Amino acid sequence: MQMTKKTVSKELPPKKTVPPIGLVRGMRDLLPDDQPLWHLMRRKAQELVEAYGFERIDTPIIEETALFVRGVGKQTDIVEKELFSFDTVGGEHVSLRPEGTASVMRAYIHHGMFNQPQPVKLWYLGPMFRHDRPQHGRYRQHQQFGCEVLGDADAVIDAQLILIAHLFYKELGIDATVQVNSIGMPESRANYKNALVSFFRSRRNRLSEEDKRRLAKNPLRVLDSKDPAVEEMKAEAPQIVDWLDEESKGHFMRVLEYLDELNVPYQLNPYLVRGLDYYAKTVFEFYANSSDQTLAQASLGGGGRYDGLSDLLGGRPTPAVGFSVGLDRVLNCLKAAKIEVPERTTDIFVAQLGEQGRKKAFAVFEEFRKAGIAASETFGKGAIKAQMEIANRKKVKYAIIIGQKEVIDGTAIIRDMDAGTQEIVDVRKVVQEVKKKLEKTKV
Ligand code: HAM
Repeated sequence: MQMTKKTVSKELPPKKTVPPIGLVRGMRDLLPDDQPLWHLMRRKAQELVEAYGFERIDTPIIEETALFVRGVGKQTDIVEKELFSFDTVGGEHVSLRPEGTASVMRAYIHHGMFNQPQPVKLWYLGPMFRHDRPQHGRYRQHQQFGCEVLGDADAVIDAQLILIAHLFYKELGIDATVQVNSIGMPESRANYKNALVSFFRSRRNRLSEEDKRRLAKNPLRVLDSKDPAVEEMKAEAPQIVDWLDEESKGHFMRVLEYLDELNVPYQLNPYLVRGLDYYAKTVFEFYANSSDQTLAQASLGGGGRYDGLSDLLGGRPTPAVGFSVGLDRVLNCLKAAKIEVPERTTDIFVAQLGEQGRKKAFAVFEEFRKAGIAASETFGKGAIKAQMEIANRKKVKYAIIIGQKEVIDGTAIIRDMDAGTQEIVDVRKVVQEVKKKLEKTKV
């Protein structure tokens, strides 16, 4: 194609400087260097959900704010302080989802999944948003992998979900332990709450303002306090196990028996209450066994039974249980443990010399791709030396070289990168020849 040459003025206009646009606070880019580890986590999640018969669900990132107010709880940190909420032009009150469970239950009710054979086993992987104070391991956008089983009340399901999460960490090479507890049914919990309130009320002067507020609004959350005075008082505080109803107690014992059966190591934590209101009976949280305190103190995942959530959202009574894993924190553990992911390799490199060579190589590359042979190239580069350096770095077995001469002769050079030997073949047979060679090396 004929192009008209433009004359380029040598004097460029003075460059205007504009301030660069940064990241929104608490947000971060997941850069290419970390992608092999993200890929590894996604693959492990996929492998486990397939083995345990879960079906994928993707719910919207935006939901009605009422879903989280009702589902997660009005007086939880997530709803009180951390929702990214806004009104749409249409006047709807919406929020970016802070978690996945309420949405999954909404979808289950909305699509009448209770009419399907029960239980319905769903999994998801995607971003969640919490307007929390950003720090290492705590981001305003984080990724969760979660599994939810809806429509089954049996303790074996709780144990199987704990097992799946346990396997996720273990098979990725992370040493993590699950802490378990039962918070009983709402009625027995109410009695326990009263006992807890009277215990801390008589020691009110030792509580911080924040904990006093928690005691008035959501007394169980005082047990989550990191204040050393509360830590000390907790040892004498009433424990929820002593207030459990018989049904919850029996359920909890069975969960533990199933965990014992499969040798899933766990720690009983009588103070574990979890920060979301929808839980009943079993609750659990995973922590890394790491000497690095920032890694060890942030939960790697958590979950529990939420038999009352469906009612809260206007559905029919539906027992349900699930977990979700915080993938950003798992990533931090993988990086700290220097877990190596085998580099994605390509078998061949297509190199070219001169404009005609480049055109031919451009087409030959497509032939390799169609034949399912992983190839790489740097068509933007002209010098053969630079291309060979890249081919070496990529550790390919063969480089296919097409220059001006090869185009005229209708050939291509196959260079064995390890042996340093070269062979000239008919360009129309190059894919076939390379395929044969690769098959031989794989035997
Ligand atoms: P969650 O404990 O609030 O539970 O969150 C699950 C996991 O997400 C946490 O253990 C943590 O690893 C990660 N995570 C939470 N917030 C952040 C953050 N700001 N930055 C980085 N990672 C974070 C739930 O969300 C429930 N929906 C779990 C569940 C599923 N319960 C029943 N089914």
